[in-house]
Amino acid sequence: MKIAITGKGGVGKSTLAAMLTLLLTRDERRVLAIDADPDANLAGSLGIPPEEQAMIIPIAEQTRLIEERTGAQVKRYGQMFSLNPTVADIAGSYGFNRDGYTLLILGAVDQGGGGCACPEGVLIRALVSDCILHKSEALIMDMEAGVEHLGRATARGVDAMVIVVEPGRRSVDCAKRIVRMAHEIGLGKLAMVANKVASPEDEAFIKEQLPELPLLGCIPFHDAFGEADRQGVAPIDLVPETIVDEYRSILSKLEEGVVL
Ligand SMILES: Nc1ncnc2c1ncn2[C@@H]1O[C@H](COP(=O)(O)OP(=O)(O)OP(=O)(O)O)[C@@H](O)[C@H]1O
Ligand SMILES: [Mg+2]
Repeated sequence: MKIAITGKGGVGKSTLAAMLTLLLTRDERRVLAIDADPDANLAGSLGIPPEEQAMIIPIAEQTRLIEERTGAQVKRYGQMFSLNPTVADIAGSYGFNRDGYTLLILGAVDQGGGGCACPEGVLIRALVSDCILHKSEALIMDMEAGVEHLGRATARGVDAMVIVVEPGRRSVDCAKRIVRMAHEIGLGKLAMVANKVASPEDEAFIKEQLPELPLLGCIPFHDAFGEADRQGVAPIDLVPETIVDEYRSILSKLEEGVVL
């Protein structure tokens, strides 16, 4: 299972990515968690302490690795380079391993003149699409907010994209743009998770605005998420069990393939 999690800024993408990762590891499943947001914050949602986070070097900053695999120099454009870099060992050698998951932080890919054909971009896309998973393994990718990553097709190669939506017009409009652009890059399997839902009206609003997207689950607004954030622990350790169960149900639906 390879899943990318997307949506407007601040809707709860990293929270969902971390919840799914930690629920899978509780079931003794191996997970490759990829933080594809240049403003990376998945490590925080996983509860990795700041001093350990500081030791993780993003892939986009591993100049020697990128140059060795693509045969091109980073930040020099107009060169020939391999479009099929070897990536199989990258998660094992460059990821941060903890309690059954491996976290890879992709980092900021310099867009200046590079577009989607820069060596960093090529390596990162290959990482997702060529990474072969064992049946019991999962890849969970936390995407950058908004739609820009769809232009770069960072998530090409995932089985499904989950759009996190909060009950608000801007979040819904962003979800609609994501749906349109995902179809344009051939990513047809889409579903949504409603987050920060405080009333039946909130849930009705999201369903009414995005009737075409299968709703995997509805996470209520709860202060424990903010508290976990402030304490620097994973929300899974603080939120009520009923909320963890809702995430569990989302995971089951993803595994059953309940997506468009
Ligand atoms: N169901 C919820 N109820 C209340 N607060 C929540 C809920 N889900 C997430 N939050 C809070 O919302 C904030 C944003 O969550 P998160 O970092 O997961 O969003 P994001 O979409 O990854 O943001 P960004 O676009 O900045 O990466 C965090 O402070 C988090 O604790
Ligand atoms: Mg985030």
